Amino acid sequence: MQLRNVELADVEAYVRMRCDPVMMADLGGPLPRAGMEDKVRRDVHRAAADLDWIKMIIPDPAAPEVVAGTVTLWSHTTEDGPMSEIGWMVLPEHQGRGLAKQAVRTLLDQARDEGEDQGQNQGQGRWGLVHAFPATGNGASNGICRSLGFRFVAAREVAFADRVLRANHWVVDPRTART
Ligand SMILES: CC(C)(COP(=O)(O)OP(=O)(O)OC[C@H]1O[C@@H](n2cnc3c(N)ncnc32)[C@H](O)[C@@H]1OP(=O)(O)O)[C@@H](O)C(=O)NCCC(=O)NCCS
Repeated sequence: MQLRNVELADVEAYVRMRCDPVMMADLGGPLPRAGMEDKVRRDVHRAAADLDWIKMIIPDPAAPEVVAGTVTLWSHTTEDGPMSEIGWMVLPEHQGRGLAKQAVRTLLDQARDEGEDQGQNQGQGRWGLVHAFPATGNGASNGICRSLGFRFVAAREVAFADRVLRANHWVVDPRTART
């Protein structure tokens, strides 16, 4: 498995992930197809500028055209201050093979290494603590959090793409995540 930055040619993968009722069942239903080129363009810009880490999951480096899903680490402002958040999706034909877990682990390892390299954020690294908000009913995603050493905080409502969803709040320190 490899991770690479999102590219303009990833529109089809975005459409399959974000505009599909099954893929989006836990995220409030499919998003409109119309906005996807713009969304990919914005994400390519943010990834290339190293503002966010927006990665595509490539299961086999020998077949780099096959994209299995995505994992993203970004920072946003909440009423409690800045928060780093990680999220992931894997397309149906690639599910159940451990790819999501491996991709999340890989990005957390990179977050840990970035902190060590740069000694930022009072020893906490660039990203500090990393939060995740899988839907309460998403067994696989909650399993990933549990097995990678996230700590369960609480169930709560979260906003996603103008919707309000019921999610489990998990948090991990990349320096102590299980690898
Ligand atoms: C959820 C999703 C990311 C899982 O991807 P995946 O690559 O199939 O996940 P993995 O194969 O890495 O499995 C992760 C873990 O969950 C476990 N798992 C799988 N299905 C499960 C279920 N229904 N209940 C509990 N655990 C489950 C696996 O056994 C594995 O744990 P293990 O390695 O300790 O055995 C993928 O199904 C998906 O993208 N779904 C649609 C979008 C989505 O729901 N995204 C997350 C939003 S919260």
